[in-house]
Amino acid sequence: MTTDGQSDPGQPETLAINGGVKLRTTPFPSVDNADGRTIGAEEREAVLRVLDSGKLGSVVGTETKTFEREFAALYGVPYATSTTSGTASIHVAVGAVDPAPGDEIIVPPLTDFGTVIPVLRQNAIPVFADVDPVTGILDPASVRSLITERTRAIILVHLFGNPAPMEEFVAIAREHDLKLIEDCAQAFLTEPDQNGKYAGTYGDIGCFSFQQSKHITTGDGGMVITSDDVLGQRMKLFVDKAWPRETGERTNLFLGANYRMTELQAAVGRAQLTKLTDVVARRREGGQRLASELEQIAGIRSASPAGGTFWQFPVLIDPAASGGTNAEWAAALAGEGIPVAAGYLPRPLYDTPVLTDGQTYGGTGFPYEGVRKYELGLCPVAERLIGETLLVVAWNENYTKNDVDDIAAAFWKVGASFAGGNGERP
Ligand SMILES: Cc1ncc(COP(=O)(O)O)c(C=O)c1O
Repeated sequence: MTTDGQSDPGQPETLAINGGVKLRTTPFPSVDNADGRTIGAEEREAVLRVLDSGKLGSVVGTETKTFEREFAALYGVPYATSTTSGTASIHVAVGAVDPAPGDEIIVPPLTDFGTVIPVLRQNAIPVFADVDPVTGILDPASVRSLITERTRAIILVHLFGNPAPMEEFVAIAREHDLKLIEDCAQAFLTEPDQNGKYAGTYGDIGCFSFQQSKHITTGDGGMVITSDDVLGQRMKLFVDKAWPRETGERTNLFLGANYRMTELQAAVGRAQLTKLTDVVARRREGGQRLASELEQIAGIRSASPAGGTFWQFPVLIDPAASGGTNAEWAAALAGEGIPVAAGYLPRPLYDTPVLTDGQTYGGTGFPYEGVRKYELGLCPVAERLIGETLLVVAWNENYTKNDVDDIAAAFWKVGASFAGGNGERP
């Protein structure tokens, strides 16, 4: 840009972080507020309907049961049980699998800690496998190499809405008689094979979150689904203190929890569910538009394979070819007003005090003290994604064509600057 505001041909525009003109000055729609949430009259009516009924709890009301039936129908499964969060959903799944203390459960290092908490809560041991260098999703070969006689389950995360390679994971689980838990907190309606079969229905249990930032939200909340009768019944019991209410007897069949969703949340969830297909379609449309733009920039590519549903928009950076690391790209893009973060997490999950310092049960390090050590170096591919190559653009169904174009333009601008003027937009 010249001082009169005109582009100087042949010269890259000065980046905003270096004193140039900021490309985008108005905020993008965000999942943190109404601009970026698909919430309207239907949800308002739902809340009032429940308040007027006087039935706010699921034991007496009908909304939660109906929400579960509607969710099960959408996913084509016989069992759906609502919960209080994504973390609770995974706890319910692990509780249904019923590991013995010291049993091992394989987990990814690049996910929300809610994927791992339930393993420790059931006194099982999280074993971190490495991930695919493009998608950040568990690598089947790494998972295979970590299976021992104590392995009971794999928790697979469909990260950012992107599908894991399910054929391979289903084969591993069958071969080794392991339960396969799919963490779909970020992956509503994700289609691993693009054939109408959704992530969450390939393994033994699918777990969902309705936390504020997810495709659809009830503030907090979750759902677990399965087609397995034993797991399905155990999960229904687990959320309600393992109290078999339908028998009329007040007793507790095993150690469960109270993870019952409220009627207010379920009523909102039902309204949200009717909008899910449209939300996913809009996220995909914008996502595919940005992906095709980024393909043309040296050293930059979308890390979303087909079948994904764009919870976020992950970008894979080749630092040498693009002229900067993920942190350098993130700083420059943020300077242009684009909502991005480098690496998704600041560190892999095994490098957090819970695990490195044994901050679990009274500081004892139980259940893994003396059994397993958590330290940097465990998963080098995940560490490279976090430290150098992964960039995450916040994504939203309410992005307009103009919003997506601004994001693309910012990538072009930063790319041109990092490449010394050789990366001008054609
Ligand atoms: C992949 C993944 N798993 C688990 C969770 C935990 O969900 P919640 O925050 O609803 O407990 C989240 C989200 O926050 C998540 O993104």
